[in-house]
Amino acid sequence: MAARLLDGSAVARQIRAEMRPDIEAFTARAGRPPGIALVLVGSNAASELYVGSKLKSAGESGLRADLERLPATASLDDLLRLVDRLNRSELHDGILVQSPLPPAMGSHAERRVFDAIAPGKDVDGFNPINVGRLVQGRAGLVACTPSGVIEILERSNIAIAGARAVVIGRSDIVGKPMALLLLHRHATVTICHSRTTDLPRVAREADILVAALGRPAFVTPDFVKPGATVVDVGTSRVEDPALVARLFPAGSRRREAFERRGALVLGDVHPDVEQVAGALTPVPGGVGPLTIAMLLKNTVRAAEDRFA
Ligand code: GUN
Repeated sequence: MAARLLDGSAVARQIRAEMRPDIEAFTARAGRPPGIALVLVGSNAASELYVGSKLKSAGESGLRADLERLPATASLDDLLRLVDRLNRSELHDGILVQSPLPPAMGSHAERRVFDAIAPGKDVDGFNPINVGRLVQGRAGLVACTPSGVIEILERSNIAIAGARAVVIGRSDIVGKPMALLLLHRHATVTICHSRTTDLPRVAREADILVAALGRPAFVTPDFVKPGATVVDVGTSRVEDPALVARLFPAGSRRREAFERRGALVLGDVHPDVEQVAGALTPVPGGVGPLTIAMLLKNTVRAAEDRFA
């Protein structure tokens, strides 16, 4: 039987609707809307798209959203000066510096920048103060993608307490915070990665399997216990016709979309998993819309905490 598809766009709309009275109340009280500054360095094509969506959603939700651009040739010091100005800005409650930064900034640039963002304005939840609070299970600003995954699971009535959860991927942005959020909700959590021995066997133990490794269609049906909930965090732009032909039969909706556009956005989960899983977040339309909804929610929360 085909898996129940969990509709991330609908859950994101619900979260945005729930926030509306809080945004109106804040705006009335503070005399201005909650504000977020989005920082984009250079012009990475994927980052342009992500930042564009974040600006649009923030504006539609009644937030102030400002784009601060720096050229790809900017130095790390230039970026740190901008972060310092935004830390002191009265109008901005949240700051998001879009990752990845240009490689020329150096391998430690992202850490330096996330360290420099004021913890109270760190709507990405990447500053080590917020990461530390998350480890201890204390309220704070939490990374948007994993907190969006929790929202879609809870609002879809997927039981987390007592479940065996397996997270594939150990990034600071998704895998590690995801594992902690599941742990705090009383799941028994395993984190897998590129050195895990017999990954399909470990993944098959999961009642909740989160795929966050960034390799299109990597998670095949042999990774999935029948009836498990599978959360697909991957978003890879695929332009390889041979891969698309292997995954989607001629005449299928996705194959035709690829033939029209020359590219497809694919998750980490193989399309055949839909026949094994009990519930599944699709790509697109699963976790992606929730990431943005949680960013807006974090911005409103940061604004309220500043004025509390
Ligand atoms: N690049 C891809 N995802 C993210 C995210 O959630 N936050 C930031 N700052 N950059 C990203």
